[in-house]
Amino acid sequence: MKRILVPVDGSPASMKAALLAIDVAETYGSEITFFAVVKRPELIGTAVGGGIGYAGDMRKVVEGLTDRQRRMLDEFVDGLNCRDIVCTKDIMVGEPYEEIISHAKYIDADLIVMGRRGYSKVQRFFLGSVSQRVVSDAPCPVLVVNEDVESE
Ligand SMILES: Nc1ncnc2c1ncn2[C@@H]1O[C@H](COP(=O)(O)OP(=O)(O)OP(=O)(O)O)[C@@H](O)[C@H]1O
Ligand SMILES: [Mg+2]
Repeated sequence: MKRILVPVDGSPASMKAALLAIDVAETYGSEITFFAVVKRPELIGTAVGGGIGYAGDMRKVVEGLTDRQRRMLDEFVDGLNCRDIVCTKDIMVGEPYEEIISHAKYIDADLIVMGRRGYSKVQRFFLGSVSQRVVSDAPCPVLVVNEDVESE
């Protein structure tokens, strides 16, 4: 259990996953990589189309979204007590589940710890689509953490 990958979207469920990953890392002496994926604007559709005019300057929009994710990830990790655990933060742009799987391969992760739900309000059966796909295709075991029932 050398390397643990924790995909972070800033949701309460991913926070619960991070806290559990810290406990696991302390027990096994693992390193943790906190990982945020920036969805490309065309994958977000109208969320970005409103006002920014992304057709004109896609690169700028991706830069802006990346900055926002980086701030989210920095604040997220700052809010954790990682104690003596070696922690890394990585960000990639793309389709979240694909990037999570390829990053798990890239860092040779022994375990992925992630939330069951993210911020999306779409009700899906059992799992969100990112967690669902990661569970299906991951190169290593995946620990999926449910958020508190009362926070739903
Ligand atoms: N963009 C992302 N970057 C990193 N991790 C992510 C990202 N999106 C989701 N995750 C991880 O996946 C977990 C489950 O989120 P998921 O997106 O599957 O649920 P959802 O938002 O409810 O559903 P959906 O996104 O399919 O509408 C999150 O708790 C987080 O650990
Ligand atoms: Mg989501």
